[in-house]
Amino acid sequence: MLPSHGANPHYVYEALQMTPPQTIYDFSENVNVFGPPPQIIKRFPQYVDLVKRYPDPLGEPFLSAIAHHHNVPRQQVVLGNGASEIFSLLARRYANKNVLLIEPTFAEYAATLQANHVTITQLIVTDVLTWELPITAIQEQLPHMAAIYLCIPNNPTGAYPAREQIQAVITMAAQHGCEVVIDEAFLDWYDDTKTYIHQFNHVIVVRSMTKMYAIPGIRLGYAIAHDNVINALKQQAPHWHVNAIALAIGTACLQETQYVEQARQYARLHVQQLQKALTTYGCKVTNSVTNYVCFKPPDAKALFYFALREGIVLRHTENFVGLNGEWLRIGIKDEQSMAKLYAMLDRWFQK
Ligand SMILES: Cc1ncc(COP(=O)(O)O)c(C=O)c1O
Repeated sequence: MLPSHGANPHYVYEALQMTPPQTIYDFSENVNVFGPPPQIIKRFPQYVDLVKRYPDPLGEPFLSAIAHHHNVPRQQVVLGNGASEIFSLLARRYANKNVLLIEPTFAEYAATLQANHVTITQLIVTDVLTWELPITAIQEQLPHMAAIYLCIPNNPTGAYPAREQIQAVITMAAQHGCEVVIDEAFLDWYDDTKTYIHQFNHVIVVRSMTKMYAIPGIRLGYAIAHDNVINALKQQAPHWHVNAIALAIGTACLQETQYVEQARQYARLHVQQLQKALTTYGCKVTNSVTNYVCFKPPDAKALFYFALREGIVLRHTENFVGLNGEWLRIGIKDEQSMAKLYAMLDRWFQK
Protein backbone atom coordinates (compact mmCIF):
# COMPACT_ATOMS: atom_id res chain seq x y z
CA MET A 1 0.00 0.00 0.00
CA LEU A 2 1.24 3.50 -0.83
CA PRO A 3 2.20 5.70 2.16
CA SER A 4 -0.67 7.88 3.41
CA HIS A 5 1.50 11.03 3.61
CA GLY A 6 3.98 12.84 1.42
CA ALA A 7 7.73 13.01 2.33
CA ASN A 8 10.00 10.01 3.10
CA PRO A 9 9.93 9.06 -0.61
CA HIS A 10 11.87 5.80 -0.15
CA TYR A 11 8.66 4.32 1.30
CA VAL A 12 6.91 4.92 -2.05
CA TYR A 13 9.56 2.94 -3.92
CA GLU A 14 9.53 0.28 -1.23
CA ALA A 15 5.73 -0.08 -1.37
CA LEU A 16 5.84 -0.49 -5.15
CA GLN A 17 8.88 -2.76 -5.02
CA MET A 18 10.73 -0.40 -7.34
CA THR A 19 14.46 0.29 -7.14
CA PRO A 20 14.86 4.03 -6.59
CA PRO A 21 17.17 5.85 -8.99
CA GLN A 22 20.34 7.34 -7.46
CA THR A 23 18.92 10.87 -7.34
CA ILE A 24 15.41 11.47 -6.09
CA TYR A 25 13.46 14.71 -6.44
CA ASP A 26 10.75 14.71 -3.83
CA PHE A 27 7.73 16.80 -4.84
CA SER A 28 5.42 14.82 -2.58
CA GLU A 29 5.79 17.08 0.44
CA ASN A 30 5.09 20.79 0.72
CA VAL A 31 7.54 22.18 3.24
CA ASN A 32 9.28 25.48 2.41
CA VAL A 33 12.04 24.67 -0.07
CA PHE A 34 14.36 27.33 1.38
CA GLY A 35 14.83 25.27 4.55
CA PRO A 36 14.79 26.75 8.05
CA PRO A 37 15.61 30.48 8.30
CA PRO A 38 19.44 30.98 8.19
CA GLN A 39 19.38 32.61 11.65
CA ILE A 40 18.01 29.39 13.12
CA ILE A 41 20.77 27.33 11.56
CA LYS A 42 23.41 29.79 12.77
CA ARG A 43 22.08 29.66 16.31
CA PHE A 44 21.74 25.90 16.41
CA PRO A 45 24.79 25.27 18.63
CA GLN A 46 23.12 27.40 21.32
CA TYR A 47 20.07 25.17 21.33
CA VAL A 48 22.16 22.17 22.41
CA ASP A 49 22.31 23.60 25.92
CA LEU A 50 18.52 23.26 26.18
CA VAL A 51 18.76 19.50 26.00
CA LYS A 52 20.08 19.37 29.57
CA ARG A 53 16.93 20.86 31.12
CA TYR A 54 13.23 20.08 31.06
CA PRO A 55 11.29 22.43 28.82
CA ASP A 56 9.16 25.15 30.37
CA PRO A 57 5.94 23.35 31.40
CA LEU A 58 3.75 26.16 30.01
CA GLY A 59 5.64 26.25 26.73
CA GLU A 60 7.46 29.53 27.25
CA PRO A 61 8.90 31.52 25.59
CA PHE A 62 6.89 30.34 22.57
CA LEU A 63 3.50 30.55 24.28
CA SER A 64 3.84 34.30 24.94
CA ALA A 65 5.44 34.89 21.55
CA ILE A 66 2.46 33.31 19.78
CA ALA A 67 -0.05 35.18 21.95
CA HIS A 68 1.73 38.41 21.07
CA HIS A 69 2.02 37.48 17.37
CA HIS A 70 -1.74 36.95 17.07
CA ASN A 71 -2.72 39.54 19.64
CA VAL A 72 -4.63 37.11 21.88
CA PRO A 73 -4.30 36.35 25.61
CA ARG A 74 -2.05 33.39 26.52
CA GLN A 75 -5.08 31.56 27.95
CA GLN A 76 -6.42 31.24 24.42
CA VAL A 77 -3.42 29.31 23.11
CA VAL A 78 -2.56 25.63 23.43
CA LEU A 79 0.73 24.38 21.99
CA GLY A 80 1.19 21.05 20.28
CA ASN A 81 3.92 18.66 19.26
CA GLY A 82 3.08 19.66 15.72
CA ALA A 83 -0.43 20.60 14.63
CA SER A 84 -0.82 16.81 14.46
CA GLU A 85 -0.87 16.59 18.26
CA ILE A 86 -3.60 19.24 18.37
CA PHE A 87 -5.68 17.05 16.03
CA SER A 88 -5.23 14.10 18.38
CA LEU A 89 -6.36 16.26 21.31
CA LEU A 90 -9.36 17.50 19.33
CA ALA A 91 -10.32 13.97 18.37
CA ARG A 92 -10.46 13.09 22.06
CA ARG A 93 -12.70 16.10 22.61
CA TYR A 94 -15.14 14.71 20.05
CA ALA A 95 -14.81 11.04 21.11
CA ASN A 96 -18.02 9.07 20.46
CA LYS A 97 -19.70 12.10 18.88
CA ASN A 98 -20.43 13.13 15.28
CA VAL A 99 -18.01 15.16 13.16
CA LEU A 100 -18.44 16.51 9.64
CA LEU A 101 -15.49 16.51 7.24
CA ILE A 102 -15.40 18.35 3.92
CA GLU A 103 -13.42 16.31 1.42
CA PRO A 104 -10.97 16.04 -0.20
CA THR A 105 -8.88 17.10 2.76
CA PHE A 106 -6.00 16.24 5.07
CA ALA A 107 -6.31 12.55 5.88
CA GLU A 108 -5.18 12.91 9.50
CA TYR A 109 -8.56 14.32 10.56
CA ALA A 110 -10.33 11.07 9.75
CA ALA A 111 -7.46 8.97 11.11
CA THR A 112 -7.42 10.69 14.52
CA LEU A 113 -11.21 10.81 14.76
CA GLN A 114 -11.60 7.13 13.90
CA ALA A 115 -9.14 6.24 16.65
CA ASN A 116 -11.55 7.95 19.08
CA HIS A 117 -14.71 6.25 17.83
CA VAL A 118 -16.07 9.43 16.30
CA THR A 119 -18.84 8.95 13.76
CA ILE A 120 -17.58 10.75 10.68
CA THR A 121 -19.77 12.15 7.91
CA GLN A 122 -17.88 13.11 4.77
CA LEU A 123 -19.23 15.57 2.20
CA ILE A 124 -17.38 16.20 -1.05
CA VAL A 125 -16.93 19.76 -2.28
CA THR A 126 -18.97 20.84 -5.29
CA ASP A 127 -15.81 21.95 -7.11
CA VAL A 128 -12.39 20.51 -6.37
CA LEU A 129 -10.61 23.34 -8.24
CA THR A 130 -11.91 26.07 -5.92
CA TRP A 131 -12.89 23.84 -2.99
CA GLU A 132 -16.38 25.27 -3.16
CA LEU A 133 -18.34 24.15 -0.11
CA PRO A 134 -21.56 22.09 -0.48
CA ILE A 135 -23.51 24.61 1.61
CA THR A 136 -26.97 23.01 1.45
CA ALA A 137 -25.66 19.58 2.41
CA ILE A 138 -23.61 21.14 5.23
CA GLN A 139 -26.71 22.94 6.47
CA GLU A 140 -28.58 19.64 6.62
CA GLN A 141 -25.82 17.93 8.59
CA LEU A 142 -24.83 20.62 11.09
CA PRO A 143 -27.70 20.06 13.59
CA HIS A 144 -26.34 16.54 14.25
CA MET A 145 -22.67 17.48 14.57
CA ALA A 146 -20.34 18.24 17.49
CA ALA A 147 -17.88 19.80 15.05
CA ILE A 148 -17.10 20.49 11.42
CA TYR A 149 -13.47 20.55 10.22
CA LEU A 150 -12.39 22.94 7.47
CA CYS A 151 -8.88 23.00 6.04
CA ILE A 152 -8.29 26.53 4.75
CA PRO A 153 -6.30 26.83 2.56
CA ASN A 154 -7.08 23.25 1.77
CA ASN A 155 -4.65 20.38 1.59
CA PRO A 156 -4.30 18.79 -0.99
CA THR A 157 -5.83 21.37 -3.35
CA GLY A 158 -4.30 24.60 -1.98
CA ALA A 159 -7.57 26.42 -2.64
CA TYR A 160 -9.06 29.05 -0.34
CA PRO A 161 -12.87 28.93 -0.67
CA ALA A 162 -15.03 32.05 -0.83
CA ARG A 163 -15.10 33.81 2.53
CA GLU A 164 -18.89 34.27 2.36
CA GLN A 165 -19.21 30.49 2.31
CA ILE A 166 -16.99 30.05 5.34
CA GLN A 167 -18.83 32.80 7.20
CA ALA A 168 -22.13 31.13 6.35
CA VAL A 169 -20.90 27.82 7.80
CA ILE A 170 -19.61 29.53 10.96
CA THR A 171 -22.97 31.27 11.47
CA MET A 172 -25.00 28.10 10.86
CA ALA A 173 -22.73 26.08 13.18
CA ALA A 174 -23.25 28.60 16.00
CA GLN A 175 -27.00 28.14 15.72
CA HIS A 176 -26.61 24.40 16.35
CA GLY A 177 -23.92 24.48 19.05
CA CYS A 178 -21.48 22.92 16.60
CA GLU A 179 -17.77 23.83 16.85
CA VAL A 180 -15.82 24.81 13.75
CA VAL A 181 -12.24 23.57 13.56
CA ILE A 182 -10.29 25.57 11.00
CA ASP A 183 -6.89 24.20 10.04
CA GLU A 184 -4.75 27.11 8.85
CA ALA A 185 -1.53 25.11 8.51
CA PHE A 186 -0.97 26.64 5.07
CA LEU A 187 -2.28 30.15 5.66
CA ASP A 188 1.30 31.42 6.10
CA TRP A 189 1.65 31.03 2.33
CA TYR A 190 -1.26 33.29 1.56
CA ASP A 191 -2.32 36.22 3.69
CA ASP A 192 -2.38 36.33 7.47
CA THR A 193 -5.21 38.85 7.52
CA LYS A 194 -7.46 36.06 6.22
CA THR A 195 -7.22 34.17 9.51
CA TYR A 196 -10.26 33.10 11.52
CA ILE A 197 -8.37 33.39 14.80
CA HIS A 198 -10.39 34.82 17.61
CA GLN A 199 -13.39 35.87 15.59
CA PHE A 200 -15.98 33.61 17.14
CA ASN A 201 -16.30 31.67 20.40
CA HIS A 202 -17.07 28.37 18.73
CA VAL A 203 -14.16 28.49 16.25
CA ILE A 204 -10.93 26.62 16.97
CA VAL A 205 -8.05 27.62 14.71
CA VAL A 206 -5.13 25.21 14.33
CA ARG A 207 -1.76 26.38 13.01
CA SER A 208 1.51 24.65 12.21
CA MET A 209 5.05 26.04 12.30
CA THR A 210 6.19 23.18 10.09
CA LYS A 211 5.40 24.30 6.57
CA MET A 212 6.56 27.90 6.26
CA TYR A 213 9.59 27.60 8.55
CA ALA A 214 10.64 24.21 7.19
CA ILE A 215 10.94 22.59 10.62
CA PRO A 216 8.88 19.38 10.30
CA GLY A 217 11.50 17.44 12.28
CA ILE A 218 11.14 19.76 15.28
CA ARG A 219 7.35 19.30 15.71
CA LEU A 220 5.60 22.52 16.65
CA GLY A 221 2.04 23.72 16.20
CA TYR A 222 -0.71 25.38 18.23
CA ALA A 223 -4.40 26.13 18.45
CA ILE A 224 -6.20 29.33 19.35
CA ALA A 225 -9.73 29.23 20.73
CA HIS A 226 -11.95 30.24 23.62
CA ASP A 227 -10.33 29.78 27.08
CA ASN A 228 -12.72 26.93 27.98
CA VAL A 229 -11.81 24.93 24.89
CA ILE A 230 -8.10 25.61 25.41
CA ASN A 231 -8.26 24.49 29.06
CA ALA A 232 -9.99 21.26 28.10
CA LEU A 233 -7.40 20.52 25.39
CA LYS A 234 -4.49 21.31 27.73
CA GLN A 235 -5.79 18.85 30.29
CA GLN A 236 -5.50 16.07 27.70
CA ALA A 237 -1.92 16.90 26.72
CA PRO A 238 1.05 15.18 28.38
CA HIS A 239 3.31 17.30 30.57
CA TRP A 240 6.35 18.71 28.67
CA HIS A 241 4.83 17.63 25.36
CA VAL A 242 6.60 20.39 23.41
CA ASN A 243 10.38 20.12 23.62
CA ALA A 244 12.68 22.96 24.63
CA ILE A 245 14.44 23.22 21.26
CA ALA A 246 11.11 23.55 19.46
CA LEU A 247 10.05 26.31 21.88
CA ALA A 248 13.25 28.26 21.25
CA ILE A 249 13.25 27.76 17.48
CA GLY A 250 9.57 28.60 17.16
CA THR A 251 10.09 31.85 19.06
CA ALA A 252 12.97 32.83 16.79
CA CYS A 253 10.98 31.93 13.64
CA LEU A 254 8.31 34.48 14.49
CA GLN A 255 10.87 37.27 13.89
CA GLU A 256 11.43 36.15 10.29
CA THR A 257 9.05 38.40 8.39
CA GLN A 258 11.34 38.99 5.41
CA TYR A 259 12.04 35.30 5.04
CA VAL A 260 8.28 34.63 4.99
CA GLU A 261 7.70 37.26 2.32
CA GLN A 262 10.48 35.87 0.11
CA ALA A 263 9.13 32.35 0.44
CA ARG A 264 5.63 33.53 -0.46
CA GLN A 265 6.83 35.36 -3.54
CA TYR A 266 8.88 32.40 -4.74
CA ALA A 267 5.96 30.01 -4.24
CA ARG A 268 3.47 32.33 -5.90
CA LEU A 269 5.63 32.71 -9.00
CA HIS A 270 6.25 28.99 -9.36
CA VAL A 271 2.67 28.00 -8.62
CA GLN A 272 1.52 30.32 -11.40
CA GLN A 273 4.08 28.87 -13.82
CA LEU A 274 3.11 25.34 -12.93
CA GLN A 275 -0.61 26.06 -13.24
CA LYS A 276 -0.01 27.53 -16.68
CA ALA A 277 2.15 24.62 -17.86
CA LEU A 278 -0.24 21.95 -16.59
CA THR A 279 -3.23 23.73 -18.11
CA THR A 280 -1.41 23.88 -21.44
CA TYR A 281 -0.93 20.12 -21.19
CA GLY A 282 -4.71 19.81 -20.88
CA CYS A 283 -4.89 19.06 -17.14
CA LYS A 284 -7.37 20.46 -14.64
CA VAL A 285 -5.39 22.44 -12.04
CA THR A 286 -6.51 23.67 -8.62
CA ASN A 287 -6.75 27.34 -7.75
CA SER A 288 -3.96 27.19 -5.17
CA VAL A 289 -2.85 30.04 -2.91
CA THR A 290 -0.16 27.88 -1.27
CA ASN A 291 3.17 26.32 -2.28
CA TYR A 292 1.64 23.30 -4.04
CA VAL A 293 -0.93 22.51 -6.69
CA CYS A 294 -3.12 19.56 -7.38
CA PHE A 295 -3.87 18.53 -10.96
CA LYS A 296 -5.83 15.97 -12.90
CA PRO A 297 -4.01 14.51 -15.89
CA PRO A 298 -5.68 12.05 -18.27
CA ASP A 299 -3.96 9.06 -16.59
CA ALA A 300 -2.62 9.98 -13.15
CA LYS A 301 -1.45 6.50 -12.25
CA ALA A 302 0.64 6.07 -15.39
CA LEU A 303 2.19 9.51 -14.95
CA PHE A 304 2.93 8.77 -11.27
CA TYR A 305 4.85 5.60 -12.22
CA PHE A 306 6.61 7.27 -15.16
CA ALA A 307 7.79 10.08 -12.85
CA LEU A 308 8.98 7.60 -10.22
CA ARG A 309 11.14 5.81 -12.78
CA GLU A 310 12.74 9.19 -13.51
CA GLY A 311 13.37 9.80 -9.80
CA ILE A 312 10.54 12.30 -9.49
CA VAL A 313 8.17 11.59 -6.63
CA LEU A 314 4.75 13.22 -6.91
CA ARG A 315 2.07 12.96 -4.23
CA HIS A 316 -0.53 10.35 -5.11
CA THR A 317 -4.13 11.03 -4.03
CA GLU A 318 -5.27 7.45 -3.39
CA ASN A 319 -6.18 8.27 0.22
CA PHE A 320 -7.94 11.57 -0.45
CA VAL A 321 -11.69 11.08 -0.48
CA GLY A 322 -13.13 12.51 -3.71
CA LEU A 323 -9.84 12.44 -5.62
CA ASN A 324 -9.40 8.65 -5.65
CA GLY A 325 -5.95 8.66 -7.14
CA GLU A 326 -7.09 10.51 -10.26
CA TRP A 327 -5.25 13.66 -9.23
CA LEU A 328 -1.63 14.32 -8.28
CA ARG A 329 -0.12 16.97 -6.03
CA ILE A 330 3.16 18.79 -6.64
CA GLY A 331 5.02 20.82 -3.99
CA ILE A 332 7.14 23.72 -5.26
CA LYS A 333 10.88 23.01 -5.04
CA ASP A 334 14.15 24.75 -5.95
CA GLU A 335 14.82 25.95 -9.52
CA GLN A 336 16.94 22.94 -10.44
CA SER A 337 14.31 20.46 -9.27
CA MET A 338 11.57 22.44 -11.03
CA ALA A 339 13.57 22.21 -14.28
CA LYS A 340 13.79 18.40 -13.86
CA LEU A 341 10.05 18.30 -13.23
CA TYR A 342 9.21 20.30 -16.37
CA ALA A 343 11.55 18.15 -18.47
CA MET A 344 9.78 15.03 -17.20
CA LEU A 345 6.33 16.52 -17.81
CA ASP A 346 7.37 17.53 -21.34
CA ARG A 347 8.51 13.99 -22.10
CA TRP A 348 5.31 12.52 -20.70
CA PHE A 349 2.79 14.84 -22.33
CA GLN A 350 4.52 14.89 -25.70
CA LYS A 351 4.54 11.10 -25.87
C1 LIG B 1 -3.33 20.55 6.40
C2 LIG B 1 -2.36 20.08 7.40
N1 LIG B 1 -2.60 20.32 8.70
C3 LIG B 1 -1.75 19.91 9.64
C4 LIG B 1 -0.61 19.21 9.33
C5 LIG B 1 0.30 18.74 10.41
O1 LIG B 1 1.33 19.64 10.62
P1 LIG B 1 2.43 19.42 11.73
O2 LIG B 1 3.69 19.10 11.02
O3 LIG B 1 2.51 20.74 12.45
O4 LIG B 1 2.00 18.32 12.62
C6 LIG B 1 -0.32 18.92 7.99
C7 LIG B 1 0.88 18.16 7.64
O5 LIG B 1 1.06 17.71 6.54
C8 LIG B 1 -1.22 19.38 7.01
O6 LIG B 1 -1.01 19.12 5.72
